[in-house]
Amino acid sequence: MNGPVLKVSGLTVSVGRGARRHVAVQDVGFEVPAGGSLGVVGESGSGKSLTLRALMGLLPPGVRAERGVVELAGEPLPFAGPRARSVRRGRLAMVFQDPLSGLDPVHTVGAQVAEVPRRVLGEPAAASRRRAVELLRLVGMPDPERRSHAFPHQLSGGMRQRVLIAMALASEPKVLLCDEPTTALDVTVQAQVLELLDDVRRRLGVAVVFVSHDLAVVRQMCDRLAVMYTGRLVETGRAADVLDHPAHPYTLGLLEAVVDLDDVDHMPVTIPGTLPDLAHVPGGCPFHPRCRFASEDCAREVPPFRYLNDRQWGTGEEGTGEDGTGEEGTGGEARGTACKYPERVTAG
Ligand SMILES: Nc1ncnc2c1ncn2[C@@H]1O[C@H](COP(=O)(O)OP(=O)(O)O)[C@@H](O)[C@H]1O
Ligand code: SF4
Ligand SMILES: [Mg+2]
Repeated sequence: MNGPVLKVSGLTVSVGRGARRHVAVQDVGFEVPAGGSLGVVGESGSGKSLTLRALMGLLPPGVRAERGVVELAGEPLPFAGPRARSVRRGRLAMVFQDPLSGLDPVHTVGAQVAEVPRRVLGEPAAASRRRAVELLRLVGMPDPERRSHAFPHQLSGGMRQRVLIAMALASEPKVLLCDEPTTALDVTVQAQVLELLDDVRRRLGVAVVFVSHDLAVVRQMCDRLAVMYTGRLVETGRAADVLDHPAHPYTLGLLEAVVDLDDVDHMPVTIPGTLPDLAHVPGGCPFHPRCRFASEDCAREVPPFRYLNDRQWGTGEEGTGEDGTGEEGTGGEARGTACKYPERVTAG
């Protein structure tokens, strides 16, 4: 297939009711090629989970996708209504942070995994059960035949997360949306689950969108990175470019706040202040009250940050401006013009 497997543009999500309704995700856009991996980072409350849920057509009550287009393999997906679920089924799957919440306590994990090929792919019951054991083996479940008869509470957190990943893969999706899938796990298990997800992407060619607050994890897992602040994308680009040469002060702030165990001289510095209440996002650049580079202009101008640090997607070449997406094609113009930060760094 040519073109991205997942293309999102102008995604805008609002929360709350009546006069208290406000925007929580604004004009978010990105693309993921088949087998590619996009990391989405930002402080808690920056709109990462709502973005994934909107893509899945799984927004909670009181939360609404207002605008935007989500295309899966070139086909636009409705956000709500009877087709929202059916058109995604089997093609787009999600792994959540808490493995217990995604599992039914009264059925064995084998039965729960088998339910997916049976229901989504219409496979007969016996074949679905065999497939469930295969999938449990694929996700590294030790002794999968025996474990398929276990109930969720009989498994460790790491094993439960493997079951959820098996369920997500059971429908042979094109895109896997992962919302902090390892946050609830301890460090060694976390590493194993990350390795599994990376392996799945490489072997099965499933594109992965990976939400995390852990920059070391996204560096390891993702080709591309999108940084979110107050529901907006503030920087996108190749993961290595964004993390090694952040163009946006917020990305720089996230990096400076990380404890670097290899560099004892580096003292982590947290970003001053807190993420504003999304009902009262400051005007101009939403980051200006917390930004050490802010000037008076920053309180008035709304810079199109998403273009910062952006490079071409997937070609391995940089900076020719021919990125195949009309949207990012304007990036050359916008880059460095609205946010003054890159020039200031160059100017020393
Ligand atoms: N069900 C909901 N109802 C109302 N507001 C919500 C709901 N879910 C999330 N929000 C609000 O939307 C914002 C973004 O939330 P979320 O996407 O969960 O952030 P993140 O995943 O980046 O931590 C937060 O300010 C949160 O309070
Ligand atoms: S526009 Fe101004 S306040 Fe916003 S990130 Fe750039 S320098 Fe900071
Ligand atoms: Mg979240």
